[in-house]
Amino acid sequence: MSASTTLAPEWLLPPADANALAESVWPASAQRDEHGVLSIAGVPVSQLQRDFGTPLYIVDEGEVRANARRTLAAFRAAAEPHGVQARVYYAGKAFLCAEVVRWVTEEGLAVDVCTGGELAVALAAGADPARLGFHGNNKSVDEIENAVGVGIGSIVIDSWAELDRLTGIVQRGTATQAVLVRVNSGVHAETHDFLATAHEDQKFGFTLDEAPGVVARIRATAGLDFVGLHCHIGSQIFGTSGFEESAARIVALHAQLSAGGEIPVLNLGGGFGIAYTSVDDPTPIESLASGIVDAVARECARHGIPMPNLAFEPGRAIVGRAGVTLYEVGTTKAVDVDGGAQRLYVSVDGGMSDNARPALYGADFSARIASRRSDDEPVLVRVVGKHCESGDIVVDAEYLPGDITPGDLLAVPATGAYCFSLASTYNYVPRPPVIAVRDGAARTIVRGITVRDLLSFDAGLDAAPAQPGSDQTNEGAG
Ligand SMILES: Cc1ncc(COP(=O)(O)O)c(C=O)c1O
Repeated sequence: MSASTTLAPEWLLPPADANALAESVWPASAQRDEHGVLSIAGVPVSQLQRDFGTPLYIVDEGEVRANARRTLAAFRAAAEPHGVQARVYYAGKAFLCAEVVRWVTEEGLAVDVCTGGELAVALAAGADPARLGFHGNNKSVDEIENAVGVGIGSIVIDSWAELDRLTGIVQRGTATQAVLVRVNSGVHAETHDFLATAHEDQKFGFTLDEAPGVVARIRATAGLDFVGLHCHIGSQIFGTSGFEESAARIVALHAQLSAGGEIPVLNLGGGFGIAYTSVDDPTPIESLASGIVDAVARECARHGIPMPNLAFEPGRAIVGRAGVTLYEVGTTKAVDVDGGAQRLYVSVDGGMSDNARPALYGADFSARIASRRSDDEPVLVRVVGKHCESGDIVVDAEYLPGDITPGDLLAVPATGAYCFSLASTYNYVPRPPVIAVRDGAARTIVRGITVRDLLSFDAGLDAAPAQPGSDQTNEGAG
């Protein structure tokens, strides 16, 4: 019995061509040459392997910039007919390094950070502190003090304890700090299950009931300027209905609080979905933007209040499709499974350390042989990593040419968001470098972490001589 007929998930159908690059999943610049070798932004993967080794995070700079421009244009175009402005913050948690900060800020985006570390990256890259927003559910006194000290644009308050900390800090200084209040609207977008209650069982934000008390205290505190509410309903959301439902609840609260003074901003967070496989069909950002902004306008009209300026925080939608991870196939193994079917396991030289998303949330990805074209019949495969975990899965189910073999390069698209940023060095597997490609040229934008680097953190080795083999790996120095 073939694996294809029994083990494939319902949504995954055998492709007409297992070499095809689904347009919605790959960077727009991805193409194959006459030998079938994949290139991104004009740089062949064979060259990338030669110069930098594998595994490798490849980021298409042009794609990041284009997504940033398109997203900003979409929200501005949606806001303009209502006479308000839209600001787009890039959610740095998706993938943050100095170059990405420069690309997105050059394209007109502000940046949101959620730890002191992310703030340090953004500042070191030259971002204007006034165009940074600071998130996080457990900001330390040091982190808040530093953020206020550098003149951060806004701080999103997540708890009473944080409000106490911030109050203490601003009362020792002279500057006024703009703050938003993070509210949990009770709309639970992950499951598209719009909970009727605002008491969602999770750690972020204040309930709708608590928020007026928080805002009253901020308004009564010298040194704090309440500029608006913030709400983020989840990630990888495809439709507008969750955002619209959430907007209705938040605008109702915004209207209630407007009785106590003008509120200039409403921040509706990020979460706009992207395609990870060819069957994913996210709503184009233009339709999402107009759907959400028009919903806010309708609700404001219903409550008889002026519409505030709007802010959004996309992460994945900016960088997700710009990233491709390149691996080398190390082994293939046909495994007999229940029911007499066989599954072909394809092991690559990375795994859950460079892409934790399948193991963390069962995320689906797709893959293609990148070093050649093959006309062999597609077979169902599971792409796995080299870690000592059976859950170390990179692509749970994909059809690839049946002659896939050790030495082939395998490319996994749509890995630009939450892959590098969630990376670990589990099993002392080195962290791959990040290579930016643009106009036929490639350069390292984040160096890899080598085994030698890892050994250098081991204080028990301080007096020991260098270990043989400790310099193995691709540092991205090519
Ligand atoms: C507050 C906040 N804003 C924005 C984002 C970005 O989400 P996405 O990358 O799905 O757009 C997140 C993601 O966790 C978030 O928590």
